[in-house]
Amino acid sequence: MLSISQYREAFSEYLEAKIKVREPENLYEPMVYILSQGGKRLRPVLVLMAAEIFNSDYRKALDAALAIEMFHNFSLVHDDIMDDAPIRRGKETVHEKWDINTGILSGDAMLINAYQLFENYEGEIFKELAQLFTKTAIQVCEGQQYDIDFETRDDVSIEDYLRMIEYKTAVLVGASLQMGAIVAGENKECKEAVYQYGRLLGIAFQLQDDYLDAFGDPETFGKQPGGDIIENKKTFLYLKALETSVKGEANQLAHLYSINPGEHSEKVEAVKNIFESSGAAGLTRREIEKYTHKAFEILEKINISPSKKEPLKKFGQSLMERQV
Ligand code: IPE
Ligand code: MN
Ligand code: MN
Repeated sequence: MLSISQYREAFSEYLEAKIKVREPENLYEPMVYILSQGGKRLRPVLVLMAAEIFNSDYRKALDAALAIEMFHNFSLVHDDIMDDAPIRRGKETVHEKWDINTGILSGDAMLINAYQLFENYEGEIFKELAQLFTKTAIQVCEGQQYDIDFETRDDVSIEDYLRMIEYKTAVLVGASLQMGAIVAGENKECKEAVYQYGRLLGIAFQLQDDYLDAFGDPETFGKQPGGDIIENKKTFLYLKALETSVKGEANQLAHLYSINPGEHSEKVEAVKNIFESSGAAGLTRREIEKYTHKAFEILEKINISPSKKEPLKKFGQSLMERQV
């Protein structure tokens, strides 16, 4: 097996060789722009790692890994339009650099390209990959719709939020691992277990993402600081703060989430103070650990040697500690 950074390296090399600007440039340039900014490459690395953990060669999983990364970047381009986000990975978002129509169409093309990559697999493997992809992609759309709906709803529960992040984020992490297992021709039990491991890690990952959106270092996090607060996202931080803060503070928080920051430039700092003083920030960190440990419990039960579990565990651990 290779190290995480070696898988990342091998994947980036493959991507750069495959993804090139061609005509019409306004369709492909944004695609190359977003895909070559790098990012963490978490999902494709998981595809490749899983293939080798289940005794295949990672090279066989490169197209599945590229499909996952293409799909993920498609979803980010459209998400940034929906979230009105100016910055991603420290750079202008596609719709800011070009325009909304360019973001829509180059996003669409990436989604289609992702699907097309599965054509490089044959028979049962093709079928399984395509089925898992379709199921996952539609769940991501459902999660994204909940996310948008929640911005203007005031009856969102923590349970609703957890289901929303499971759909918009976690299922794709699970599917990444499962795709590696599919390419390796694993049995049903292993495929399901590794999916669950990824799904639970994915929930922890999104909780962490929401935490860093408010409390991360804007220099390294690469997104607009407090972007979720500006967009009134009903994150775990927000919902926990409503639940745990004293009444006056809860009312103030709800009020802050009813205005837009143009009317109130101190909004982000005021909300962050309540996230801290209510204890919600600490409770969010606890929840991240809880989901990571739930994932580790699943990992314990997977029928592979301890030495193969180690890289998967290391990966989960590093996600929990990440600052970017
Ligand atoms: C994005 O969720 C999920 C998808 C693109 C499917 P967020 O909107 O919370 O993610 P960031 O903060 O923009 O990366
Ligand atoms: Mn979003
Ligand atoms: Mn977003």
